[in-house]
Amino acid sequence: MSDSKYENKPGIDERISRAYYKGQKIVVTGGAGFIGSHIVETLLPVGAEVTVIDNFLRGNKIEHLRGRQNLSVYEADVTDAEAINKLINDCDIMFHLAAVVGVEETQIAPVEVLNVEVQGTINIFNLAVEKNTNAVAVSEFQGTQLVFIG
Ligand SMILES: NC(=O)c1ccc[n+]([C@@H]2O[C@H](COP(=O)([O-])OP(=O)(O)OC[C@H]3O[C@@H](n4cnc5c(N)ncnc54)[C@H](O)[C@@H]3O)[C@@H](O)[C@H]2O)c1
Repeated sequence: MSDSKYENKPGIDERISRAYYKGQKIVVTGGAGFIGSHIVETLLPVGAEVTVIDNFLRGNKIEHLRGRQNLSVYEADVTDAEAINKLINDCDIMFHLAAVVGVEETQIAPVEVLNVEVQGTINIFNLAVEKNTNAVAVSEFQGTQLVFIG
C-alpha cells in the first residue's frame, strides 16, 4: 500500500536540523520536566508552535517561558485520554517525555507508575494516529529506550 505522506518523509539528517522544526506544531508531554523543558527551550527559538502537556508532578522547569509567543502550556494527565484529546487539535510531531522517574516512586507506587508509562504511551500513540501526526518520539521509562516513528 502506498502512502505519499510516508514516501515523502524527510530523512534523518533533515529531522535533526533545527530548521526542520520551524512552523511545525509540536506537542511535548512532560514538557515541564528535565528533558522536555530542554526540548521546549530548543524548539521555541526556531519558530515551532509548541504545546506542553504536563501534570507538574515534578514542578515546572518552563516557568521562565510563561507568556512566550507560540507556547501553550496545559496541566493534564497523559493517562486521561479524553482530557488530552480535547487539548490537541492538530499536530505534526509529538515528543512523549511524561513519566514518573525514580526508583523510590516505583517502589512506593509501582502500579501507578506503570500506568503512566504504559497507558500514557498508548494514549499518546492513539492520539497521534487520530490527529494524523507525522512523527512520535518516546523516551521510555527506567532506561534509555527511544522509539521514533516517522
Ligand atoms: N533524565 C535523563 O537523563 C534520562 C535519560 C534517558 C531517558 N530518560 C527518560 O526520559 C523521560 C523524561 O525524563 P526526565 O528526566 O525529563 O524526567 P522528569 O521527571 O524531569 O520529567 C517528567 C515530566 O513528566 C511529568 N509527568 C509525570 N507524570 C505525568 C502524567 N501522568 N501526565 C503528565 N505529565 C506527567 C512530570 O511532571 C515531569 O514534568 C523518562 O521516560 C525518562 O526515563 C531520562
